[in-house]
Amino acid sequence: MLLLRLSGMNEMDKLLVSGGKRLEGEIYVSGAKNAALPILAATILADHPVILSNMPHLHDVTTTMDLLCRMGVIITIDEDMNIEIDSTSITNYYAPYELVKTMRASILVLGPLLGKYGKATVSLPGGCAIGTRPVDLHINALKKMGAKIDISKGYINADVNGRLQGVTIDFPIVTVTGTENVIMAAVLAEGKTIIHNAALEPEVVDLANFLNTIGANIVGAGTNTIEIEGVNSLTGGEYKILPDRVEAGTYLVAAAITGGSIKLTNALPRIMTAVLDKLRLANADIVCGDDWIELNMHGNRPKAVNIETSPYPGFPTDMQAQLLALNVVSEGRAIIQENVFENRFMHVQEMVRMGADIKINGNQAISNGVEQLYGAPVMATDLRASASLILAALIAKGTTQVDRIYHVDRGYERIEEKLSQLGAEIKRVHG
Ligand code: EPZ
Repeated sequence: MLLLRLSGMNEMDKLLVSGGKRLEGEIYVSGAKNAALPILAATILADHPVILSNMPHLHDVTTTMDLLCRMGVIITIDEDMNIEIDSTSITNYYAPYELVKTMRASILVLGPLLGKYGKATVSLPGGCAIGTRPVDLHINALKKMGAKIDISKGYINADVNGRLQGVTIDFPIVTVTGTENVIMAAVLAEGKTIIHNAALEPEVVDLANFLNTIGANIVGAGTNTIEIEGVNSLTGGEYKILPDRVEAGTYLVAAAITGGSIKLTNALPRIMTAVLDKLRLANADIVCGDDWIELNMHGNRPKAVNIETSPYPGFPTDMQAQLLALNVVSEGRAIIQENVFENRFMHVQEMVRMGADIKINGNQAISNGVEQLYGAPVMATDLRASASLILAALIAKGTTQVDRIYHVDRGYERIEEKLSQLGAEIKRVHG
């Protein structure tokens, strides 16, 4: 029985933010959403129960656990969000549209279901606010491994005669979840799978480390060539999820945009180099240890910085909106170029309504810093856009109402509680 503590989040929630407070304090960084989701999917492959710790309390995590439970997986969680997952009693291999439409990462069950059971029916995720986000690369790779896949009525219907076969996969573009799906499909396949042009993201490495903990044989995660030697079965085990580098980066910007200071604990600066370099260029004073980061603006106004997003270890697209929020109140002109997704500037018009000076030119957002933003009713459209609007609201004069914050709850654990802890005047309004 899944004992999910109801967190009182619902679709119509709004956040009210009164700007102008300088943020100061300490935040414990939660586990990474984008490591938790593939690792939860990967538990499908285990022949014995798995215990995962440092799981973030996020909507996307509860959605994934809901999906697994509908397949027959038995999940129990304790009050610290440590969860035990027993996948030995899976009865169906189906990921319905009603769940997949709320979280496209549900596609991550496709690889493990095919690898373990040779069968899967997974709804196509459809597009989302930041782009069409096809899954053709996932499907082509799994077909090459021997899966028969046809798409009808919005569903991916896949099955395999016997086991998937180890092959060489050359991804034409870097795909994070595409790499993850192939890794999960390959761990129980016949023979060796080699992935070229693999995603290097730390979350891919965390997935590989988890799978190796329970008996997989994966070499090269974190480089662009990953080799997976198929094994006959995976055991159970325990694993702690990686800290969330995007949540960490978002709180660093919250301190920077308000001219304040922050200490992040349970952070990993070594996987945040691109973001930390840009914040230093923006005039932030940053000191790091192995598992902590301190940022201090000393009350100074940040300097605007030019950004070009790219796959890891480049500047992460998931931090683009947050740095634009910083740029629009920083000194000077800057250009942010989004190279990963085709439509990830949905936050721009909302910021302009708050008084920002931003022009869109193709995949570039050109901003001229203004002295002051003004509170306004704004609407979130995707996870990181909503976070960027909250950041802008922290520095805006007056009150900002951010609607549709269910987007925020998907990727940020108790954001209003953590920001209040830092001195922000922010509250959640239900309904
Ligand atoms: C992952 O999405 C993350 N999600 C995203 O985080 C992140 O923005 C993205 O990687 C890039 O870093 C999870 O890990 C759950 P991609 P993913 O496949 O895997 C194109 C967040 O905010 N593409 O690396 O879906 C695609 O359209 C979310 O936490 C194809 O064309 O991204 C995009 O332009 C948002 N065909 C590019 O590749 C495919 O089959 C990179 O996408 C797959 C992808």
